[in-house]
Amino acid sequence: MARSKRIKLLASLTKGYHTVVDIGTDHGLVLKQAFDLGYIKHAIAVDIKAMPLEQAKDNLKGYDAQFIISDGFKQIDQPFDMAIIAGMGAYTICEIMAETKNPHARYVLQANDKHEILRKYLAQHQYRIVDEHIIFDGFYYIVMVVEQGCMTLSPKDCYLGPILQHKQEAKPYYRHKLITLKKIIPSVDDHKKKVLEALIAYLESIL
Ligand SMILES: C[S@@+](CC[C@H](N)C(=O)[O-])C[C@H]1O[C@@H](n2cnc3c(N)ncnc32)[C@H](O)[C@@H]1O
Repeated sequence: MARSKRIKLLASLTKGYHTVVDIGTDHGLVLKQAFDLGYIKHAIAVDIKAMPLEQAKDNLKGYDAQFIISDGFKQIDQPFDMAIIAGMGAYTICEIMAETKNPHARYVLQANDKHEILRKYLAQHQYRIVDEHIIFDGFYYIVMVVEQGCMTLSPKDCYLGPILQHKQEAKPYYRHKLITLKKIIPSVDDHKKKVLEALIAYLESIL
């Protein structure tokens, strides 16, 4: 998971923020890179497990960072202006977002799967996607930048991404998805076939 282009992208999004919470920090490498680039002043490295947090402590020795064992934001009462939640499933990220006590921060979210679930959750819980990024680093990774606000998303927007669908650099990703869906469609039942046909139509409409 600690792929270097993905880490670099996540770190680049911290520029100009003061205190960054990294939920599920694991190795702490996103925070380390953000510090090394001079982008942030303080970090709160959080993980639900002790072992990964020990790794983060090693990697962030000498940096202005705190280390907290917590399930998402549950133990986080400190002020912060940015939170990163990366490298987890969409449902886990939704559960973690539901517990934040800081609606005014900027959130950088990178789900490993089911981006449409995360986008739908955000739209239903007064969050607005302000940008979306994609990077190929062995796999395609999608990163959403999110703030408190309003957005209305159609099912097509949830699937493709309201911003990502307009970005040229996302075309190879959509082409890859289209090829995958076309490969599996002959082997699925009629109900699933209808669902996949709708997704294929979304993809073909932008390619
Ligand atoms: C695959 S790693 C991702 C590490 C890093 N965020 C990245 O993107 O490279 C997922 C990490 O999230 C932690 N994690 C999972 N659920 C969590 C939760 N509810 N609260 C805090 N940490 C969690 C795991 O222990 C693990 O260290």
